[in-house]
Amino acid sequence: MKRAAPDNHQSTRTRLPQMPEETESIIQIKPTGGPLGAEVHGVDLSTGLTAGQITRIRQAWLEHIVLYFRHQTLTDEQLVRFGQQFGELHRVQYLDRERPPGVPMEIEIVSNVVVEGEPVGLLGNSEVAWHTDMSMWEEPASATILYGEEIPASGGGTRFCNLYRAWEELDEDTRNQVRGRRSIHDSAYMADGNVRAGYENLERKSEGPGARHPIVCTHPETGRETLYLGRKGYGYILGLAEDESDELLDRLWNHMVSDRYVWEHEWRKGDVLMWDNRCTAHSRGAIAANQARQLRRVTVKGSAPR
Ligand SMILES: [Fe+2]
Repeated sequence: MKRAAPDNHQSTRTRLPQMPEETESIIQIKPTGGPLGAEVHGVDLSTGLTAGQITRIRQAWLEHIVLYFRHQTLTDEQLVRFGQQFGELHRVQYLDRERPPGVPMEIEIVSNVVVEGEPVGLLGNSEVAWHTDMSMWEEPASATILYGEEIPASGGGTRFCNLYRAWEELDEDTRNQVRGRRSIHDSAYMADGNVRAGYENLERKSEGPGARHPIVCTHPETGRETLYLGRKGYGYILGLAEDESDELLDRLWNHMVSDRYVWEHEWRKGDVLMWDNRCTAHSRGAIAANQARQLRRVTVKGSAPR
């Protein structure tokens, strides 16, 4: 597995066209050297970005799947404004708690911090299994954008896998078994394995709630084919016996998250991480209970996978 970006990789310098030089910064994209991911230099996300800068970031995001920006300082309003450059944002509904006062509807807090016995945000300390954000809905998230507000000295890294490449290199037999099939993207469980508020434990995966998406999708913007499976451990492939479905899903997940497709982001305070849920899945390492980790998240509405 490749880890965070060393500084000696080849960089792509682009001076944006048709912009007055004094108002335009030079955005540099440095690929991680791993199977996906790039660092973006030369942009302060707290400012209003130009159309040229947004275009450059969008192109890099589609090409590299995951982007990270170091040394950012963002208010909630600035994070929302940045996210809105990439589409309409989800407005988050809290089913199991009160919304924290003063936090915009578009922001979700991912945190292991507990204040007076109440968790400040979602997901706690535990490891989070491989998943794709919001794929249990008919129209899942295209982008997820996370801002690192408080980061522990170690642990809590976010791993990503390149699902374009995993599909391209899948053996022909398995490709034939999954092409044209759909799977259930279970909505009964959260990414940390707990039952979602308002749902019950599943008796049978084949009857579970959640969207039925194609296993092989065509990315709506790049036109490339990619695997799309939702969450490891709770899926079901329509039309198969449950044990056959389990066996095939295990085989696919083991392939998708093998080291040659995976890169891990090691967080620093002030990082903004942005990824394309339509062609990657992600997971998170566990965090020590005595080390605070808090991120603020927005997600961009996508279209139904096809
Ligand atoms: Fe996630």
